[in-house]
Amino acid sequence: MNETDRIDGGNAAEPPEYERVESRALVVGAGAAGARAAIELVDQGIDPADLLVIGKRGHGDAHTTWARGGINGALGTLDPEDDWTIHAADTLNEGHHINDPRKVETVTARMPGLLRQLDDWGMPFSRTENGRIDQRYFGAQSFRRTAFAGDFTGEAMLETLVSQAQNRSIPYRENVFVSRLITDGDRVLGAVGTDLDTGEFVVFDAEIVILAAGGYTGLYRRHSSRDDENTGDGPALAYEAGATLMDMEFVQFHPTGMVGDRYGASWDGRLVTEAVRGEGGRLFNAAGERFMERYSPDQMELDARDVVARAIAREIAEGRGTEHGGVSLDISHRERSFIETRLPRMYERFADLGVDMAAEPVEVAPTAHYGMGGVQVDDDGETAVDGLYAIGETMAGVHGANRLGGNSLAETVAYGQATGEAVAERLHTRADRPDGEALSRRAELHLRDLATLANSDGEHDPEALLEEIRSLLWEQTGILRDEAGLEAGLERLEAIRSRAADLAVGDERSRAYEFALNLGFALSVANAILRSGRERTESRGAHFRTDYPDTDSGWQRNICLGRDSIGSPTLSTETPEAPSEAVQHALDAGYELDYHQLE
Ligand code: FUM
Repeated sequence: MNETDRIDGGNAAEPPEYERVESRALVVGAGAAGARAAIELVDQGIDPADLLVIGKRGHGDAHTTWARGGINGALGTLDPEDDWTIHAADTLNEGHHINDPRKVETVTARMPGLLRQLDDWGMPFSRTENGRIDQRYFGAQSFRRTAFAGDFTGEAMLETLVSQAQNRSIPYRENVFVSRLITDGDRVLGAVGTDLDTGEFVVFDAEIVILAAGGYTGLYRRHSSRDDENTGDGPALAYEAGATLMDMEFVQFHPTGMVGDRYGASWDGRLVTEAVRGEGGRLFNAAGERFMERYSPDQMELDARDVVARAIAREIAEGRGTEHGGVSLDISHRERSFIETRLPRMYERFADLGVDMAAEPVEVAPTAHYGMGGVQVDDDGETAVDGLYAIGETMAGVHGANRLGGNSLAETVAYGQATGEAVAERLHTRADRPDGEALSRRAELHLRDLATLANSDGEHDPEALLEEIRSLLWEQTGILRDEAGLEAGLERLEAIRSRAADLAVGDERSRAYEFALNLGFALSVANAILRSGRERTESRGAHFRTDYPDTDSGWQRNICLGRDSIGSPTLSTETPEAPSEAVQHALDAGYELDYHQLE
């Protein structure tokens, strides 16, 4: 149902009580992208009292903390021939040339300066002997370009950003679940949320909303996200508000997730950082064969993530995996002190599980890790809805068909800054408070729906339905896909959707209430992945169709999911622009990773 339907068909009962909170700019999402955008707004002269950052968890507690191996930027610490145009070329090659080159340039050109700024702000980067920011190899990158803080780069970066936000007195509000953005049909007016601590409803009145609410791979059965995060909130909220989704079929499977049958179910899919391979880790099948020699003799374990993930999946499927359903990742040829220093969290985690990484391999298998798709935005990060911006994993365009490891943290700070600049400029030059009456009317319709949802005593458990969606996506939109599976997935999804109309839900502070809201997001995002995946009748990057195994140059296009005039979903395609001359030059030079330098 779209916004207009809701107004025409709304019920007449009194709306529930709610708190109303006003700000000029509202940032939804308290991870790195949201924090960096808020910092930029203040640095561009916006009064912090005019801002509000809201997160669905505690302050400083966001999925960014689980980003591990590093953040890319062409500093050239160890490889002085590197520069941002080569970083852009690597990003476009990895994205199979359906990335938006201008967005790629926004990220790659800004990153050297942004890494130095994080360093000035106190981020504890690992350093070379002469004190420079160290850089390591990461997959499919021509040079050592991935700066890092041990293997806890995301945690270190978020702490740095949160402390910068605190220095600037940026207000945060924690534990608020945003379930709807409110628009007048063309422009954003604000948002509606539930305070998960008190159960109270909150209506946020804002001129600008910046969505930095993460991605959608938490909707896969085996995934590397924190529990109940990356559940599609950002893309689903934007789509419901009238924005367009793009590239949703491109889901990255990280080659090395922990194997639940070996380490326990609660560890299943958790990330074993690519830094293990970047620091020399080797993959072996159960027969002791270093199988990447067969799949990618030049780039070996550091080929693109999709290539390594498919290779591992094939080894396992063809019976050459371990008894626990994985393969071995071995870095025991490195010195213990090297592993302890470069990979401290991995070393400690496995030691706690009784595994000594300096003496034996760990068991890994692919895990859903990152959604390259998301909300279509312009160069400033603005969506098709006036005043609504999307950044970080919520936005699409930077990564195309596959993402380089280390480019997600880069995107959060680069687009946090770029969008912060654009929004500050707009706030300085245009004072256009949204129509408060229209916000109240439209918000109250949604609040009635929320009040009806809470304490409903239907038949189905929302958490169980979410789990069904996770299984469906893993089985039917996994590493290998085909037409029949995608069709079956759509049918299964419709069956889940009809049961989702009859939920058993607790009060507004209950987990079941949160799961019920997540379920709504999951239904829209799963539909977008399945439909876009069915539409793309070729293989490209992370989207591998066994019935269309080749890349088709005619498909060098982005699939966009919008709505027609009556609110029904529509698919269309767009062709990406050409890169700039400087980046084309780097592409023509044909740089690529030479793995054997690492041996
Ligand atoms: O493997 C990793 O450390 C992941 C990094 C990334 O996805 O950027």
